[in-house]
Amino acid sequence: MEYQSLSPSTMLNPTPVVLVSCAGAENPAAKNLLTVAWAGTVNSDPPMVSVSVRPSRYSHELIRSSGEFVVNLVDEALCEAADFCGVRSGRDVDKAAALGLTWRKAEGLELAPALEGAPVSLSCRVRNQLSLGSHDLFLGEVVAVSVRADLLDGDGSLHLERARLVAYSHGLYQSLGPVLGFFGYAVARPEALSRRMAALLGRGWEMKSARYQAADILRAVLRPGDRAVDATMGNGHDTALLCRLVGRAGQVFAFDVQESAVASTRERLRREGLLDRVRLFHAGHEHLREHVGEPVRAIVFNLGWLPGGDHAVTTRTETTLSAVRQALDLLEPGGVLVICVYPGHPEGKRERAALEQMLARLPARRFNVLSQSFPNAGDGAPVCHAVQRQAE
Ligand SMILES: Cc1cc2nc3c(=O)[nH]c(=O)nc-3n(C[C@H](O)[C@H](O)[C@H](O)COP(=O)(O)O)c2cc1C
Ligand SMILES: C[S@@+](CC[C@H](N)C(=O)[O-])C[C@H]1O[C@@H](n2cnc3c(N)ncnc32)[C@H](O)[C@@H]1O
Repeated sequence: MEYQSLSPSTMLNPTPVVLVSCAGAENPAAKNLLTVAWAGTVNSDPPMVSVSVRPSRYSHELIRSSGEFVVNLVDEALCEAADFCGVRSGRDVDKAAALGLTWRKAEGLELAPALEGAPVSLSCRVRNQLSLGSHDLFLGEVVAVSVRADLLDGDGSLHLERARLVAYSHGLYQSLGPVLGFFGYAVARPEALSRRMAALLGRGWEMKSARYQAADILRAVLRPGDRAVDATMGNGHDTALLCRLVGRAGQVFAFDVQESAVASTRERLRREGLLDRVRLFHAGHEHLREHVGEPVRAIVFNLGWLPGGDHAVTTRTETTLSAVRQALDLLEPGGVLVICVYPGHPEGKRERAALEQMLARLPARRFNVLSQSFPNAGDGAPVCHAVQRQAE
């Protein structure tokens, strides 16, 4: 194999990426967050971690004066916030306020706060400070650890593999893939190996029904900064998913004919801090073109009626077809339209037949169409269609 020599650098990858929270001794109300990729585990008894911080950082001053910091692990939901906290200084902006993040009392510390929502927070007291050149290394003794309750089992065991932690590798934030093994699996007895792997991986691959299939497609298609449309807002589950996927720089447009749907979606998005990237329209999706002027990367239709709502207010074949036509015109090259159809009621049956006819006639040079159905699940089983506009 051939190798090339690069100039010496800190090429140790991946590293964790963490949000370090701190507060100064002089003004404890001024709490701050900075992003650190140079964090390490350095001792187990007493438990110690290190963070390397340039003296020019505002946080350096706070950690030095208080002698405390909190290492908050970063999951996918916090990834964009971590990037923001790594490119803006607390000298110029209250980062937590700008991101809608809130604080929690950090166990075992006087001044530095923990970050609400982080999967795990390590309260640290500074035991040593080493000047290494560009960075100062703060050696922290971990005096308390708090874990988000949903990561603990009934018997108190921690399942960090469920936390969707983020790794940082050569300038990129990356999610962790599936579990490959556990400590000692290379030498485990076959019975223990298969029992523990089954417990970790669950039932493995499953054939997912229409809405889950639709969500998987949206996750695969959408990227930060994209534009997307939810044509049937309902209780806002799909709108929230689109908002998370397109991130702060993205834009989502969502439609529903029911005022109550718009209100419950608005409330869900407010709770999740996602309202800044969405426009909610109390309007039918057949008016898509009037409200969305630019091409979008993904559009989702979840047809039928609002679960738990009035069954009389359901999507209708004619307006659905008109909206789907407009949606196809709005797709950017490579963009995807996803439609979930519920043929378990008479109008749903009409929608299924009309859509199948329409999709079968789309020109293959412009669109690829994929339909997922469960032929042995009865006539009313939901169907998922995906249409991708060909890249130019
Ligand atoms: C992914 C990432 C990792 C970073 N790692 C470190 C680090 O290990 N040490 C450091 O001093 N700065 C690091 N930074 C830069 C600081 O987080 C950044 O300068 C921040 O704005 C400092 O904020 P402050 O002035 O409010 O303390 C990193 C930034 C990013 C985006
Ligand atoms: C199955 S629900 C959508 C569920 C939703 N995606 C969610 O995540 O909760 C269908 C929704 O379509 C709405 N709807 C019915 N006709 C519509 C139309 N012409 N335009 C937009 N929405 C419509 C209904 O009010 C209902 O809320």
